[in-house]
Amino acid sequence: MGFIEDGRQSDVVAEASRRRTFAIISHPDAGKTTLTEKFLLYAGAVIEAGAVKARAGSRRAKSDWMALEQQRGISITSTVLQFNYRDCVVNLLDTPGHRDFSEDTYRVLAAADAAIMVLDVAKGIESQTLKLFEICRTRSLPILTFINKYDRPGRDPLELLDEIEEQIGLRPTPVTWPVGIPGDFRGVVDRRDGSFIRYSRTARGASEAIEERLDPESASVAEGDAWHKAMETVSLLDEVGSSLDMESFLAGETSPLFVGSAITNFGVRHLLDAVVDLIPPASPRKDSSGVSRPLDAPFSGFVFKIQANMNPSHRDHVAFLRVCSGSFVRGMTVTHGPSGKPFSTKYAASLFGAERDTVDVAYPGDVVGLVNASGINIGDALFEAEAVTFPPIATFAPEIFASVRPKDTGRHKQFYRGLDQLEREGVVQVLRDPEGDSTPILAGVGAMQFEVFTYRLANEFGAEVELTSAPYKAARRTDRTTAKELRNISGTRVLTRSDGTLLALFENQFRLQRLESDHPNWLLDHIVSAGALP
Ligand code: G4P
Repeated sequence: MGFIEDGRQSDVVAEASRRRTFAIISHPDAGKTTLTEKFLLYAGAVIEAGAVKARAGSRRAKSDWMALEQQRGISITSTVLQFNYRDCVVNLLDTPGHRDFSEDTYRVLAAADAAIMVLDVAKGIESQTLKLFEICRTRSLPILTFINKYDRPGRDPLELLDEIEEQIGLRPTPVTWPVGIPGDFRGVVDRRDGSFIRYSRTARGASEAIEERLDPESASVAEGDAWHKAMETVSLLDEVGSSLDMESFLAGETSPLFVGSAITNFGVRHLLDAVVDLIPPASPRKDSSGVSRPLDAPFSGFVFKIQANMNPSHRDHVAFLRVCSGSFVRGMTVTHGPSGKPFSTKYAASLFGAERDTVDVAYPGDVVGLVNASGINIGDALFEAEAVTFPPIATFAPEIFASVRPKDTGRHKQFYRGLDQLEREGVVQVLRDPEGDSTPILAGVGAMQFEVFTYRLANEFGAEVELTSAPYKAARRTDRTTAKELRNISGTRVLTRSDGTLLALFENQFRLQRLESDHPNWLLDHIVSAGALP
């Protein structure tokens, strides 16, 4: 039993078992936003679909978030949505995509217990999905797959199953199978009981799709050929054993698959039910020594994202913390791991889009936004009672690089102060050559990271900077032994991050691929840990 300060007793384990915390991974335009909105519709969190986009629109008008965000009309932050569905509390962590793709996109996955991979039926697996999937794999995150846009012409879904298995080594196990071809979507077979769920559209998909459950005989009469074709495929899937298997799903080896169309709401309920029925609840997390911390241990959590200056009128920093154990009660004083200092949580907030509500109590699986969190960095642990640290957050090796100098050399001090702060917040990675040129090199995975860096350095630290694109095309985490070899190879350079991580930079991909195949024993890892500085 966890004890809550306000005198209420609460069973932390029972609350954790109601939590489902996941992210949606997809390529831009596959339908992530639409699906998110439809989840809210089915959960009763919005009355009519369109609310999320409407909120985004009104936010732009009234928001006092970063001026940069306003100028560009896009969201730099990722959103954490919390809603109730059936008897569960669902935490949906949004992975920023499109042009605002950044290391944050990867870090969000560290806070998730599962992911939904959304694929466009016409396109299958695309590059961004692939990258996000790889991060999921490093954590063996269970993944549900949703084949979206089945209302439109697209590829044969069986072909997509092959593609998923071949390209990412994840075995799809369809739970529902479509009746009708892409573009002529009648409904789905629920393979768990063989029944047919026939869907009918509602106007603009603004309210829930009408669903009718038919037994196989009635389905055969009603849908004829389309039904028989679907059943043929279903028997094939049965024969090859592509059926839901919880053990391999939880190990991140197979992926229960659903087919639908977010825009018409077809298949959305099945998927949301799967979030509750299949996705694992918040469970004990391993600390950095590999020991699982019981859910009812005293409060602990780690910061996976920092958002600075959401409100420039009071320079706030919000640290997004995933609760790992115990109960979080607003107002409690916790310890900030790296500094050992007390941190007051008086202004803790939960976030729905850009709008904040204060949060009073949170449990394992929940995400809390800690306001006034300057001094707190990505990867930091906060806890009550005994100290705990959590493993570093995995992210991909950076892909874009630029050297950075202050425009006005008289503002050196401001420049270095800002550089240090923004590196600590995880806005960019800062690489240095301990033996050579002292110009720092910025590294990131999306151009937006550099834009935010430049903007904030000028506006918060008073140092205008000049960025010069650096000629590197790829980077890999390496070790001292490999670094020694690499230093003799032209077109490569080994730089150091402030946390001591060595990164090898390559002027061309081809050279890197050659080195990888010629020297399989060299450490050239494309997964690096992010943020946390010693
Ligand atoms: P994203 O967040 O993954 O980038 O995708 P988003 O939901 O914004 O969807 C991208 C486009 O695909 C949108 O069209 C959206 O309406 C459409 N879409 C999403 N799900 C479905 C679906 O199941 N079927 C069909 N046919 N289309 C779908 P848009 O024209 O770019 O925007 P909008 O004007 O409709 O908002």
